[in-house]
Amino acid sequence: MARVKALVAGNWKMNGAKASKKEVTALAKKLAGKAKPACDVLICPPATLIATLKESAKGSKIAIGGQDCHAKESGAHTGDVSAEMLKDAGAAFVIVGHSERRADHGETDAAVRAKAEAAHRAGLTAIVCVGETEAERDSGATLKVIRGQLKGSLPDGATAKTTVIAYEPVWAIGTGRTPTPDDVAKVHAAIRKALEARFGAEGTKMRILYGGSVKPSNAAELMTVPNVNGALVGGASLKAEDFWGIISAYA
Ligand code: 13P
Repeated sequence: MARVKALVAGNWKMNGAKASKKEVTALAKKLAGKAKPACDVLICPPATLIATLKESAKGSKIAIGGQDCHAKESGAHTGDVSAEMLKDAGAAFVIVGHSERRADHGETDAAVRAKAEAAHRAGLTAIVCVGETEAERDSGATLKVIRGQLKGSLPDGATAKTTVIAYEPVWAIGTGRTPTPDDVAKVHAAIRKALEARFGAEGTKMRILYGGSVKPSNAAELMTVPNVNGALVGGASLKAEDFWGIISAYA
């Protein structure tokens, strides 16, 4: 198994205001302390805060990312933000295909793929999300669903540098419920296999994050599952103290 440096990423979703920069400065302080976690750290705030938080993160190891982008570079798309704009504001990453976008905005695998391609075009690392619903899980379709999403959402030519996968079972998001480590291991192994089959050596090195109710109390257990190369964290990434509790799984 290739050695992959973990990434702990926070997805703030539609939360946060300018005052939230105090969480970034608090986290930066913790990261500058004695315990040097062996992982990269990323915060994806709402687009309105990217430039502000990039400034707060200056001099620290915290990267900033977007939560979504349009597939086009510019144009008549009221309310949308392009990957190039995120980059210009200070982002290094962008999440695409989060289940909340797939559900709330009807994003298809093809749309997600176009967004991941836009991220690559702009020089951003795309975090491509996949995950089954509870009904799909109950019907035993988890791996089939995940393979289909990977096939449809990942651009050809994706590399370990430009692309991160996030496995987020929809039923585990914001619910406090998580799959067992064994279940996570099975899905992540299947994802690794699919990545290797399609991308060869790059596929062995691509980070596969787990997301869905990751908390300080379960991070250590989930982060040591084979082929789990970090976390995509929602609620527990909003406060520096909680997020640090998860990052510390790599200390
Ligand atoms: P929670 O950590 O709040 O369950 O959210 C997970 C998620 O959707 C991150 O993208």
